[in-house]
Amino acid sequence: TRLFEPERTNSNGYDLRHRPTLAAIDAKRDAFRTHRWRGGPLMACNPSEGPVGTVTNPADLTDTVGEIRLATPEDVARAAQAAQPWQADAKDRARLLGAAADLLEANHGEIFALLHREAGKTLPDAVAELREAVDFLRYYGQRATEGLGGEPLGTVACISPWNFPLAIFIGQIAAALAAGNAVLAKPAEQTPLIAHRAVELLHAAGIPHTALQLLTGGGDIGAALGATPQVAGVAFTGSTQTAQAIHRNMARHLAPGAPLVAETGGLNAMIVDSTALPEQAVQAIVESAFQSAGQRCSALRCLYVQEDIAREFLTMLTGAMDTLTLGDPWLTQTDAGPVIDTEAAQAILDHVERARSDGRLIHSLPAPTRGHFVPPSLIRVAGIADLEREIFGPVLHVATFRARDLDAVIDAVNATGYGLTFGLMTRIDDRVQHVTERVEAGNLYVNRNQIGAIVGSQPFGGEGLSGTGPKAGGPHYLDRFRARPTAPVAA
Ligand code: SER
Repeated sequence: TRLFEPERTNSNGYDLRHRPTLAAIDAKRDAFRTHRWRGGPLMACNPSEGPVGTVTNPADLTDTVGEIRLATPEDVARAAQAAQPWQADAKDRARLLGAAADLLEANHGEIFALLHREAGKTLPDAVAELREAVDFLRYYGQRATEGLGGEPLGTVACISPWNFPLAIFIGQIAAALAAGNAVLAKPAEQTPLIAHRAVELLHAAGIPHTALQLLTGGGDIGAALGATPQVAGVAFTGSTQTAQAIHRNMARHLAPGAPLVAETGGLNAMIVDSTALPEQAVQAIVESAFQSAGQRCSALRCLYVQEDIAREFLTMLTGAMDTLTLGDPWLTQTDAGPVIDTEAAQAILDHVERARSDGRLIHSLPAPTRGHFVPPSLIRVAGIADLEREIFGPVLHVATFRARDLDAVIDAVNATGYGLTFGLMTRIDDRVQHVTERVEAGNLYVNRNQIGAIVGSQPFGGEGLSGTGPKAGGPHYLDRFRARPTAPVAA
């Protein structure tokens, strides 16, 4: 049997019987505890001798994870020249994407070690991330065999974030490849080694080098991709500001109508009313705000608690926060690891310190000092309008509301312009109906956490400032990676 069986889901998540056992994981990942990886561009032609950087473990800055050679803007041009849309038919593409999924699973020990040491992912996060990556490969491969309209776009640039350095990286690539395109993939500069290893495995599965090339590097490589005339579409996940910059760049340099599939940020809220089950709500809030150290675009940023229950509820919530274990993501008892780098840590710490000096810090946990750790914190706000921007870390803002002001709360949430995830905790059926109809959010979760969408059963994506749609892991995603056939032009 395979380690990660696909399609064994229920509405609340995966069937736990199909999770790998800890002993099985440990036997494989221990070999990579001190391993040093080497990575760099993987191209259909020879890359140039670009500069070499070092990757360190965000949980322990004395741990060198490996070395990475960076691509140059000239490499982008040469890779674009060498790219050829994947000629195999949809069935063969699905078969090879499936073989790539099998290879990722077979190498799970190494993948987990990379996720811990390069991205600071805890074991539950790493397991979920590998599972999501293999689900994307199998799901999009399968979707392609069910018939796609139009024809491949040609060459697609995939620009992915560090917070899901495997799942989103692979998800974009799998979609573009399943739709028959060639891919130029640029992983986040913080997490190039796992991307390098994943592309090696995709090539080993039989995906041609001309169809999939890896360009490691930072913003200069992303900018070069958006200005490369052969690029016929861009898939991007990251900040709203970067998506807007890419869009402007594309408008100047690429063919008119080249699609941008963007998944960006969120200012995600949850409403807890006085009928909610407190134990259930507290658990869901802790997961939504602090799991993955809050580094998910889906994470809960602003909690609204009905004022009648707020005092007792916040006592429960801070008590639950106190049980969180922060530390080395490799250790199985760890609930939350570090944030990704110095800049991220500093921005979050500044935000928490401002709240402390304003007297708005309700609760904060002690954090390890060895790596880029920040204290999970609870900050009082009057409402979501007080959040000037997305704080991408383990910081939860909390406001109270009166029952009669429920609609005003929804209006304030909608007024942010973002629309990614939204959570509702209530036992009033009419309220579920009412809020569902009024809230503008891509993914709305009732009486559960609001993170961890599942490929194939919970398509994920937002509206407004949160993305351009269609939803990842859903039946329409591949359509954006296909061009409508153009009518023959009369001579
Ligand atoms: N898909 C992730 C989630 O649902 C966020 O990127 O949490």
